[in-house]
Amino acid sequence: MDKILVHGGRPLSGSIKISGSKNSALPILAATLLTKETCTIRNVPDLSDVHYMLTILSELGAEVERASGTVIVKAEKIKTEAPYEIVRKMRASVCVLGPLLGREKEATVSLPGGCVIGDRPIDLHLKGFEALGAANRVQSGNVKVFASQLTGSVVNLRGKFGSTVLGTDNVMMAAVLAEGTTVIESAAAEPEVVDLANFLNAMGAKVEGAGTRRIIIEGVKELHGAEHSVIPDRIEAGTFLVAGAIAGEELTLNRVNPDHLRALIDALRTAGYEISENGESMKIKGRHAPKFLELTTEPYPGFPTDMQAQMCALLCKTAGLSVITETIFPQRFMHVSELKRMGADINLEGASAVINGRESLSGAPVMASDLRASAALVLAGLQADGITEVNRVYHIDRGYEQIDEKLNGAGAHIERVKA
Ligand code: UD1
Repeated sequence: MDKILVHGGRPLSGSIKISGSKNSALPILAATLLTKETCTIRNVPDLSDVHYMLTILSELGAEVERASGTVIVKAEKIKTEAPYEIVRKMRASVCVLGPLLGREKEATVSLPGGCVIGDRPIDLHLKGFEALGAANRVQSGNVKVFASQLTGSVVNLRGKFGSTVLGTDNVMMAAVLAEGTTVIESAAAEPEVVDLANFLNAMGAKVEGAGTRRIIIEGVKELHGAEHSVIPDRIEAGTFLVAGAIAGEELTLNRVNPDHLRALIDALRTAGYEISENGESMKIKGRHAPKFLELTTEPYPGFPTDMQAQMCALLCKTAGLSVITETIFPQRFMHVSELKRMGADINLEGASAVINGRESLSGAPVMASDLRASAALVLAGLQADGITEVNRVYHIDRGYEQIDEKLNGAGAHIERVKA
């Protein structure tokens, strides 16, 4: 098991190229199951989660080829039961349910358990499938969804924490091959949902309204092969933007869509950072006396929960009292106890982290608990005195393509060693 050693205090400058979005690539790869024809997906990031998804597609019977960032999938004949051994490793595997149900009218995957960021139910996915006429059964840890026919209808996918991203994706993927029109109310409006809808439309689907709270899907008889390029990863870009805030003399991010990062850019500008935009490129200047912030995570276009841990890391050394409230995954604060080990002054009050900015942090051995938490620990390490040893880095490799090499290219000193 690798660990990462972050030598703190190095200034960042130069440029970093942003990879394709993990959260777009995963459902888009699952959507290739909707057709027998060949699909070509470009700008696919090289991540362990993507690798799991490609393994699932192969196990389901698809032919999968991969050459650098391009993946070619041909799912001529498919099985409908996803293998437990792989599915259990990645919650996002649940997004094969929609396409399998849409095409074969049945699908079985193992039920995702909770994870460190909280309970991860799929009741809203199942509610959407039920609205299309599918029944479901939970047996021996698996969930099976099945229907004799799928018929479009109106379904509201709002849960107690707002909209659901993969739930919207799943219902959309099942509905594209349903009879008649489906309306998803309270749909997730994240850019990754729009990216998936664009790919589905390129395959011959009729999806309108993606990116708004109401998505209208007119079912078609079949879909054909298509080519698609995945959007840039806004969370990877956001993470590097925060790295630039922490340690950047002047850090440029290339191949990024600033429009997908409005809430974060706004927060960083409020804190006093200078950010400039030029088409698909952005520049941030670090600052030594930024202002404290109050942030609340919300569904897109609000402040993303996937950037909450990284902002905690930034605010640990920002003078004043900052408050970050989590409304999507109220328990998503596993990074807090690790940041405290580095000298951060953070109190958890319910679903809020109250952060009293300190003048310094000190490097320490810390444990990555989930993907974004581990990114936060690397960011904290960049601004800590001495060496921060981040253990269990497999979490970070799930969602960041060579984070250590990218940061080193901009002047950081990060080593990856075998534990
Ligand atoms: C996706 C992202 C994840 C991000 C999250 C919220 C992927 C692969 N992952 O996860 O990085 O943190 O969106 O932006 O795209 N919920 C229910 N019932 C359900 C489904 C969800 O109550 O059936 C709740 C969840 O527990 C959570 C909230 O709804 O509190 C949002 O979850 P959801 O948007 O579904 O997250 P994911 O799509 O799994």
